[in-house]
Amino acid sequence: CGIVGYVGRRDACPILIKGLHRLEYRGYDSAGVALVNPDGRLNVFKCKGKVSDLEHFLDGKDLGGNIGIAHTRWATHGVPNDANAHPHYSESENIALIHNGIIENYRVLKDALEQNGYTFRSSTDSEVLVNLIEYVRATSGCSLPEAVRQALRQVIGAYAIAVVEKGNHDRIVAARQSSPMVVGVGDGEFFLSSDAASIIEYTEDFVYVGDGEIAVIDRNAPLKIVTLDNHDAKIDIKKLQLSISQLEKGGYPHFMLKEIYEQPRTIVDCIRGRINPDTCEVKLSGVIDHRDRFVNARRIIFVACGTSWHASLIGEHLVESICRIPVEVEYASEFRYRNPIIREDDIVVAVSQSGETADTLAAVELARKAGAFVFGICNVVGSSIARATDSGAYIHVGPEIGVASTKAFTGQVTVMAMLALAVGRERGTVTEAYYNEVSAALLHLPETMEEVLKVAPQVADLAKIFTYAHNFIYLGRGYNYPTALEGALKLKEISYIHAEGYPAAEMKHGPIALIDAEMPTVAIATPDHTYEKTASNIEEIKARGGKIIAVIARGDEQVRRSADFVIEVPVIAECLMPIVVSVPLQLLAYYIAVYKGRNVDQPRNLAKSVTVE
Ligand code: G6P
Repeated sequence: CGIVGYVGRRDACPILIKGLHRLEYRGYDSAGVALVNPDGRLNVFKCKGKVSDLEHFLDGKDLGGNIGIAHTRWATHGVPNDANAHPHYSESENIALIHNGIIENYRVLKDALEQNGYTFRSSTDSEVLVNLIEYVRATSGCSLPEAVRQALRQVIGAYAIAVVEKGNHDRIVAARQSSPMVVGVGDGEFFLSSDAASIIEYTEDFVYVGDGEIAVIDRNAPLKIVTLDNHDAKIDIKKLQLSISQLEKGGYPHFMLKEIYEQPRTIVDCIRGRINPDTCEVKLSGVIDHRDRFVNARRIIFVACGTSWHASLIGEHLVESICRIPVEVEYASEFRYRNPIIREDDIVVAVSQSGETADTLAAVELARKAGAFVFGICNVVGSSIARATDSGAYIHVGPEIGVASTKAFTGQVTVMAMLALAVGRERGTVTEAYYNEVSAALLHLPETMEEVLKVAPQVADLAKIFTYAHNFIYLGRGYNYPTALEGALKLKEISYIHAEGYPAAEMKHGPIALIDAEMPTVAIATPDHTYEKTASNIEEIKARGGKIIAVIARGDEQVRRSADFVIEVPVIAECLMPIVVSVPLQLLAYYIAVYKGRNVDQPRNLAKSVTVE
């Protein structure tokens, strides 16, 4: 879900709507705004659907006011409909609240409120919170910030909330626990958001609200932040520079396509200052500053979700082969609930584009408590995971807006390759020749990415042929097994076609039963030490009447002969091939989804950043 807020001298509504559009990638089931107009009236407008539906709904309404809060929702409790959309009014309609996250003990709180005569209009946990705040206020007669504080002390769960009240056109009260929230500080005005990028056009000065903190945002007073136990928190203003063009489509029909095409440049940004072009030496400050931790690490555990988990599987190969440190890759959501064995000489690497994924953040907290050293690989600067880790390396690929992750994946693998080289050298586990080969390949990676993007028209033609397939299988081995998983994930996310990724050889232990002329196979068969084996696996599918799209090296004749269609890619060091191969797979998913008429940037049911468990 996304939160945006404004208090100042300007008309709040246009700022809120623009912010919601920028946040829409976080959820788009329903949207709404609450405004306090100059007479002190509190108006709430909300509806099911996207922000554009809300805009239509707002036509002709009383949208006056220099203060307001707005929300775009990704449903957790309660189906997406008008009543469950945020903001939620309190019983008396004196308070309006928006909420990201989940209130775990909402049932108990709701029962208690019902006993006190409260009724509920929605089936959300969020409405419980606004009534709880009203109840506290009514029974103790305290101020709104104090009522929010006391109410939140009774709450178990994750939240980022913003609250406004009737009769007060100066103040928003906001708070967070395990869900992102920043306050943008302007001149006589404040902005509030769950993602700084959505308000970057108004200010570069941000205050990150900490866990268990409540921000009192009053346009007539300096920003005040208190903790849940009522101590003043330090106000630390951070500068954040982002250009607006990074948040717009820049002539592309979709963010996803723009982001696919950005990859040559995002790789430049990712490796900038980290590889010396003369000596090929790789330097990651997050590693240098903690050299001994890495040199003496007994084990590395990657924790991540979704695409970041696939990138981590490639990280496993890189680190094990280059650094000779045992690696495990864990789904953050499984790791955190499994009572895992974590030792003080383990390194936990948290991989997250957004830096806000709730499960990954919880895994970080668990690892830190257990005494492990925690290293973050994030994209969003200043994000919760970036701040919660001991050290880290940003991937620096710029804002990723398309829900299907593309440039973040290639950036993550690029950082992992640099990490493996830097640590491998310190540990003495990598030969000079291999180190130089891989780091030189990384330096040339932007050109390689330019090259591979030239396959786009051919992939678009292929996509036309396969748009009507109902199932796909993606095969790869070694470094490219995770690439196959990621290719399949891309397709299912945005086209809703069922797709499975499999290790090519494992295929004969089950999935081969699915093969027929209706079930295309995307086989990754670029040159590596398993090439011949993959070629045989392709023959096995062919023998069963399967249609094969093979991703092969330029000039490869062997697999070309058995495949029905080929996509030729340039070849670089084997360990970096997933970065190159993922590009045609991203494009294939993209074009198939476009031909199927899907909403590529906002596929159904998904959200870019999952800040709930
Ligand atoms: C969501 C997104 C995925 C993403 C995953 C992890 O499910 O839709 O694209 O890979 O979260 O996100 P993170 O920001 O932690 O990398």
